[in-house]
Amino acid sequence: MDCCRTAGAEPFTEKQARRDARRLRRKGLDGWARRLADTVHPAGATVLEVGAGIGALTLELLRRGATHAVDVELSHGYDRIAAELALDEGVADAIERRVVDFAEAGDEVGSADVVVMHRVVCCTPDGVGVVRAAASRARREFAFSFPRSGPGARVFARGAGLVARALGWEWRFYVHSPKAMIRAAEEAGLRQTRDERGFVWSVAAFERPEEAGSHNSHDLALSDGGV
Ligand SMILES: C[S@@+](CC[C@H](N)C(=O)[O-])C[C@H]1O[C@@H](n2cnc3c(N)ncnc32)[C@H](O)[C@@H]1O
Repeated sequence: MDCCRTAGAEPFTEKQARRDARRLRRKGLDGWARRLADTVHPAGATVLEVGAGIGALTLELLRRGATHAVDVELSHGYDRIAAELALDEGVADAIERRVVDFAEAGDEVGSADVVVMHRVVCCTPDGVGVVRAAASRARREFAFSFPRSGPGARVFARGAGLVARALGWEWRFYVHSPKAMIRAAEEAGLRQTRDERGFVWSVAAFERPEEAGSHNSHDLALSDGGV
């Protein structure tokens, strides 16, 4: 196995980071990341992004007025490119990057006003635990994306698993129960405000009820559409 790949995050190398950065420069944020950004209220808020990759979503939230962000990432593969992007945007001082397994981070990672997590639960065997840990750190809002748990996703997961096994990777693509993940966020004291479903991906968003007055609390919004 490549010496520079992190066990359990083998696809997330510097090469992948360069690809992500090229795509970001050419096309901007992907659709679901943009929906996550649209869902939360970052102005004046601190942000925690879990599984941040190159930090594209964090950069967007800083552009929208977030004051500071902690980006947690399992793989060192993104370090250099994430730092270059933050420098280019002039926000290097506003981002603290931690390379740590969030599932095991404990007190090492503190709470933030807004917590986001994009395309991460599908890369960890304990998706429900990671949602619980992320939700419990959200002082005001939490939003995350996840693949829908239909037969298509399961077939994809099986195919990805075969390829990963052949390459000797620990990484797998996991499809977790959306109900169980949403329950985990609710058990962390949050109330669901958004349930957006696409063909492959979905977004769920939550707020902490005692903080709801601060940013136009609303009833659960449902929508269908997109990939
Ligand atoms: C598919 S990538 C998505 C990266 C970024 N959020 C995006 O959408 O471009 C999933 C990321 O989650 C990270 N990740 C998975 N499990 C993690 C964990 N337990 N702690 C921290 N990061 C994790 C992986 O290293 C990888 O960078």
